[in-house]
Amino acid sequence: MTQEIAIMSEKPATAAEIPPIRKVFVKTYGCQMNVYDSDRMTDALAKDGYVSTDVLEDADLVLLNTCHIREKAAEKVYSALGRLRDLKKKKAGEGREMMIGVAGCVAQAEGDEILRRAPSVDLVIGPQTYHRLPEALKRVRRGERVLETDYAVEDKFEHLPTPDKARTKARGVTAFLTVQEGCDKFCTFCVVPYTRGSEVSRPVAQILAEATKLVEAGVREITLLGQNVNAWHGVGADGAEWGLGELLHRLAAIDGLARLRYTTSHPRDMDEALIAAHRDLPQLMPYLHLPIQSGSDRILKAMNRRHTTAEYIALVARIKAMRPDIAMSGDFIVGFPGETDADFEDTMRLVETVGYAQAFSFKYSTRPGTPGADLGDQVPEDVKAKRLERLQELLLSQQRDFAQACIGRDIELLLEKPGRMPGQLIGRSPWLQSVNVDAKASQIGDIIKVRITGAGPNSLFAEAIS
Ligand code: 5AD
Ligand code: SF4
Repeated sequence: MTQEIAIMSEKPATAAEIPPIRKVFVKTYGCQMNVYDSDRMTDALAKDGYVSTDVLEDADLVLLNTCHIREKAAEKVYSALGRLRDLKKKKAGEGREMMIGVAGCVAQAEGDEILRRAPSVDLVIGPQTYHRLPEALKRVRRGERVLETDYAVEDKFEHLPTPDKARTKARGVTAFLTVQEGCDKFCTFCVVPYTRGSEVSRPVAQILAEATKLVEAGVREITLLGQNVNAWHGVGADGAEWGLGELLHRLAAIDGLARLRYTTSHPRDMDEALIAAHRDLPQLMPYLHLPIQSGSDRILKAMNRRHTTAEYIALVARIKAMRPDIAMSGDFIVGFPGETDADFEDTMRLVETVGYAQAFSFKYSTRPGTPGADLGDQVPEDVKAKRLERLQELLLSQQRDFAQACIGRDIELLLEKPGRMPGQLIGRSPWLQSVNVDAKASQIGDIIKVRITGAGPNSLFAEAIS
């Protein structure tokens, strides 16, 4: 039997069976959903014989997976395309071909403009049609410039291959899994409802199959992703309508899956089952990214957030009652049109009240096509900059205080990857902090007990305890 297998595997394949090896360089901008999508595109391309490369000059195909959330993010794409145009020319001079593709939210929002402004681009593909990427590349090879940004009627996830075991293993012991895409909330500053479309939840069976495959390949921690991940809903195995809380319960039952996280959540979609899951599931890590954006009710209304600061504070209190050690994270925008000094002071007060272990903050960036873009009373850039500086100072001091409070605590650490120093590994604390500890490479994937001994600006230090 063994011999038979050996003979079979040694059988020379015909040229028609082996696709030529091509190299793809993928550059990912923006959020974790783009990181997930980039991996899925790479998986889809692997079927066509593409292998990933980190060396841009070696690439036969360069894919930019872009972000449209703020103006700066979108601008980066055009400057990257300028550099790629020069490289493409240089390579053509050497008789080597290089295709350029633009994917992601800028592709979706500005597809026509990209093709007009950047003649070296061969392909523009939106996030809803990544399963059509191999076919689109065939059309490019036939000499077409392809624009593939219509919302697909078919389910892209059903058509995208799941990664094989070897590739998953190479990606590490933590993984993202998109369970929900799109947004129906229409916050007045945000492009997401236009670039990613309306809210869609992946079916339970699809999610479970993917999670099980990840765990079988050695993944210990899965972060469920969605622009509105806590709006996820589906029909459970019991025929009942499930929300994210029920889904988390089912995922926690997968043998070998040690940790679960989810991001990004909207305050209006935190239902009772989800809040209770934070109390009932030891696998669900005590860290919650729950953006409020502003601490002023007037601005929240103008942003169409459809909740007040009091509702948000009460919600956080309910979550903390269920899981007292939960670390809160958030997003903030300063300088939304009409934001006064008093509104900004309300945001500072809200931050003081809630206390964040980590947070992301941004100057409001006008996005064409969103209602915010048409509002008068835009806040001058220098005012935005000053407010952002103050807010970030406060958030950073809270982050430092949180890290300092960890010193002396014994925690469980998931060992993820080699550290900077020999003999060191980097792990993740339950609160998503990077922790450096002396450990052997063979321990990657283990969860060990450590005592936190110190805190640097971006990571903690710990020693293993038995
Ligand atoms: N300007 C600034 N920040 C924005 N965000 C979304 N749209 C904008 C914008 N137009 C921020 C929000 C959101 C995060 C992903 O990006 O804080 O939660
Ligand atoms: Fe954008 Fe608001 Fe939807 Fe979040 S909830 S993706 S901020 S529109």
